Amino acid sequence: MTDQYAVIGNPIAHSKSPAIHAAFAAQTRQDLSYASILGDLEDFVGDVRDFFSAGGRGLNVTVPFKEQAWELADQLSERAAAAAAVNTLIPLPGGSIRGDNTDGVGLVTDLGCNHRFNFSGARVLLLGAGGASRGVIGPLLEQGLGQLVIANRTAGKARALAAEAADPAKVSGCGLDELAGSGYDLIVNGTAAGLSNQVPAIPADCLLPGGWVYDMMYDPGKATAFVGWGRQHAAARALDGLGMLVEQAAESFFLWRGIRPDTEPVIQQLRAN
Ligand code: ATR
Repeated sequence: MTDQYAVIGNPIAHSKSPAIHAAFAAQTRQDLSYASILGDLEDFVGDVRDFFSAGGRGLNVTVPFKEQAWELADQLSERAAAAAAVNTLIPLPGGSIRGDNTDGVGLVTDLGCNHRFNFSGARVLLLGAGGASRGVIGPLLEQGLGQLVIANRTAGKARALAAEAADPAKVSGCGLDELAGSGYDLIVNGTAAGLSNQVPAIPADCLLPGGWVYDMMYDPGKATAFVGWGRQHAAARALDGLGMLVEQAAESFFLWRGIRPDTEPVIQQLRAN
């Protein structure tokens, strides 16, 4: 029987995950189907239980359920535990469920492998202190950064997140309004500002000459507001989150199927659409 997978979120209609996983399955000749499920805001846990009781082999979890998925999982990977969020659920023999989080590895794989950003010793600024930022702190720190500054509109949230980091000597938190005069090699936008077509209020001199910007958001067919900011401020590279989206999917696919798909043609295919 064809193995069943799905992504669950609310809203879900515009999710690219079904197209990405269908492309991976075709490329690697895996017999699987991948659907999208509009999760019940009142009963996410019921939806997940129903899916796995019916024989489902794996779920991706997206907004707004990643924290609930973390609570629901009987077992967590180290990175999911640190992220306090789960985007990949894996059923285990005996009926328990394992939670993992592939978002952070998606970001660092896109930046480091696809685009060859040199993380070693880099000064990195992470904007935002919500779930999206929390999920990438651990994987970023594993890349051998020189320094990671988390800056948020609400400074206290950034400080609290920095204080939780595994490597506190390298990580600090501050308000967006405290950034003047400090330059970075890479600025990663993990805020929700782009949803309302805004950019976080950061000073122009945040970006060092030759510095890169990366928006974790992706808007099919157009540059995100933060990519626009990067271009305006002469970023050496201004990247959106399409590559991260495909790379996190590839890592989930690997967790489920034990095979790593080739992501480049899938990124190109989505970029062309
Ligand atoms: P997510 O789980 O997607 O990260 P979230 O937990 O709601 O969502 O967090 C949203 C983040 O975007 C927060 O860091 C928020 O800043 P505050 O903590 O000060 O609210 C940030 N954010 C949202 N809109 C923003 C804007 N217009 N400018 C700057 N930061 C913004």
